[in-house]
Order: sequence, then C-alpha cells, then structure tokens
Amino acid sequence: MEHDRPVTRAWVLHPDITGSDQRREAVHALEEAVSLAVALPDLEVIGSNAVRLPKPHPGMLFGSGKIEEIKAVLKANEIDLVLIDGPVTPVQQRNLEKAWGVKLLDRTGLILEIFSDRARTREGVLQVEMAALSYQRTRLVRAWTHLERQRGGLGFVGGPGETQIEADRRAIDDQLVRLRRQLAKVVKTRELHRKARAKVPFPIVALVGYTNAGKSTLFNRVTGADVMAKDMLFATLDPTMRAVQIPDGPEVILSDTVGFISDLPTELVAAFRATLEEVLSADLILHVRDIAHPETDIQAADVNDIMGSLGVNEATPQIEVWNKIDLLEPDRQEAMRTRAGRDDAIFAVSALTGEGLEALFAAIAGTLDAERSLAEITLDFADGKKRAWLFKEGVVEEEQQDEEGFHLTVRWTARQARTFETL
Ligand code: GTP
Repeated sequence: MEHDRPVTRAWVLHPDITGSDQRREAVHALEEAVSLAVALPDLEVIGSNAVRLPKPHPGMLFGSGKIEEIKAVLKANEIDLVLIDGPVTPVQQRNLEKAWGVKLLDRTGLILEIFSDRARTREGVLQVEMAALSYQRTRLVRAWTHLERQRGGLGFVGGPGETQIEADRRAIDDQLVRLRRQLAKVVKTRELHRKARAKVPFPIVALVGYTNAGKSTLFNRVTGADVMAKDMLFATLDPTMRAVQIPDGPEVILSDTVGFISDLPTELVAAFRATLEEVLSADLILHVRDIAHPETDIQAADVNDIMGSLGVNEATPQIEVWNKIDLLEPDRQEAMRTRAGRDDAIFAVSALTGEGLEALFAAIAGTLDAERSLAEITLDFADGKKRAWLFKEGVVEEEQQDEEGFHLTVRWTARQARTFETL
C-alpha cells in the first residue's frame, strides 16, 4: 500500500447573507461547495454548515458570538482548513485565520485550486497560473492598503513592510509577463491545431452543462470510452474530443467540456474560456441537464448566460438533454417525458440506464442533417485540392465538368461552408 499522506481536515462554511439577492437556497449552495471541496485531493471534508448572516462584518466577516461558536466546532473536530463559500477580503482572512488558528480559503481560492489540479492542456495550465497570480497580487495590494501595521514597518511610507510587498508585487508582475508570453505561443500552436481540426470531415457536437450534470457519463455511453466519470466536479477541465459513430447516424466529433458553475470568479473567466473553444465552432450543442437536481432551472439559466457571454453563435442548433430521469419518482418521470415529448429539441434520458438515448441519437442525426444546406460551386481545374476536400467531406451530390472547370452541387453544414472559405 502507498504510504499515507497527511490529509488536511477541512470544514466548509456557506455564509447565508439574508439581505442579499442570492438566488440559490443556502442548502443547495452549501451542497455544491462541499462537492467542490471533495474534488480536491489530500483533503477530507469533516463537516459543513451554512451560517446565517444579516450583514457581513467588514473586519471579521462574522460577528464575535458566531466566531466563538464556530471556533469551538473547529477545535472539537481538529480542523486545519476552513473553506468559505463566498468572497473573503484579505483582512477578514487574516483575522479569521488568527481567531480560529486555521488556514482559510475563499471560493475563488477553492476554484483556483481545483482548476490547477485538473488543467491538462498547456494553455489550461498557463491560464490557471495567471489567474492564481493575479488573485495573489490583488490580495497583496489590498493587504497593504488595509493593514495598519506592516511586518517590521515603522509606520513611514517606504518602510521595510512596503518594500517587501513592492518586491513581492514586482516578482508577481515579472512572472505574469513571462506567462503571458508563453501563453501567446501556446495559443498560436493551438490555433494551428484548430485549423487542422476544422478540416476533420465530421460535424462537431459539443456537450455542455452544469458541473455534475452527467456530461462525461453520456460521453462514455456514446463513445464507450472511459473519460473519468466520477462523482467529482470538474473531472473534465479540458475538452476531450473523440470521433464516434452515432448509432444509425453520421460519424461526428464529440467534444466533452468542463462543467459550468455559477459565480465564476472573474480571474477565472479566461481560464474557463480557454477550455470552451470547441463549443464556439460546434455544429450542434447538447446542453446536458441534471433534471433531478432541485435547482435544475437556475443551473440551466446559468449555463445559457455563460454561453451567451462567451459569444456562442445563436444560430448554432441546440438540444437539451434532460438527464438523470431515473432519479425521479415514477409520476414525475412520466411528466418529464410528456413535457420533453412536446418539444423537438428536448429529450428526457438517463445516461446511466440508457433510457431515451436512441431517440436522442436519432435527433442528433436529424438535426445535423437538417442543418445542411445546398450550394452550387464552380472550381477551376487548378483547384484540385479544394475539390478533393469536398469529396473527402462527403458533401458532393452532383458534379459536371465543362471547359470552365467543375460545377458541383454540395450539401453541407455552415461550419463546412466556413472551412471551405479558408482552404
Ligand atoms: P463535471 O466534470 O463536473 O462537469 O461533471 P459531468 O457533467 O461530466 O458529470 P459526470 O458524468 O461525471 O456525472 C456526475 C455524476 O452523476 C456521476 O456520479 C454519475 O454517475 C452520475 N450520473 C450521470 N448520469 C446519470 C444518470 O442518468 N442517472 C443517475 N442516477 N446518475 C447519473
């Protein structure tokens, strides 16, 4: 057996701010935060609770009574790390760490840890490192603005405290410049790869959805591949692509993407975006939903918001996959099937049992087919390469030849038409 590594004992707190416009119920928000924490390695979530808070206290976040109360719980459970599901200012962090004798991580810090643990492509890793540094940098700056007493500082501007922070900041800035330069290179290479992929002769189908909705499970169902489906959030930070044959349908490229999540910290938007390029160029988007989740509608709205802000083309056809139907009571299952049956673009399925997948596959095939339009193209004799591409794509319906060159009738997707333009 492997040598046991020391495990950090963690406690998750969700500040339930009564006056705020939080849409989510505290219990679901807390549950999601705990799942996020569980996704981190070497960490054991010992317990969790929501804390009602009329108003965040600027210096300590919680009132002094609450702080004592929580301290007792943390002590009794020998907690090393407290995860707070929300923003915590550097001052609050420092004060709470001191009061409780623990390390503390806020929501941004937590998601950063997960992203950095899961990032698999070079670009993903660099984006996460940059996000982490920017986050650290703002904390240094804010720490300087808010703290009265600096380490060793004498209270004058330019004292040793400030010098240290300035030096830390400069080191971070240098590192950020280096990372940005590397990233530019990686993006260039990636662009080349993407162009190569654009020439792939199959339509691209992208799976998107809220974290834990069942994207990887569905992906595996279709591909027979093992893409790490576990009850672990963000099991797929980077898109996984695979050519698959849709049963009784066309061959497609299926692309699995990272799970969406609400309140994504701004520092992380770029890192997240880097993982979603495939969605932007997809021929069909499958929006996978956990229909058994109590907040499934809020999750769906979040996913749609994020897709909108990423610039997903509204013309791209979408199918909603209402997954995990097996988890519902029989009468609710029936209601969902009826509801989905009324809409051509909604399918109630279970990626686990396989229920409903045949109809979904048929719809994928049908949608991709319907998305094809006819076009007439004339090519010079010198355009042999373009002509070969059209045949390789399998889009040519008719061809005639005269002294001008080739006259072709093609039936293709919008993506294929765009790619043809770049040849
Ligand atoms: P992220 O990687 O976090 O974005 O998650 P994901 O959307 O890829 O979810 P994943 O496929 O990893 O599934 C999450 C959990 O839900 C796993 O425990 C799956 O076994 C479970 N699950 C997926 N589909 C179904 C389903 O149809 N029914 C039931 N009961 N469980 C399901």
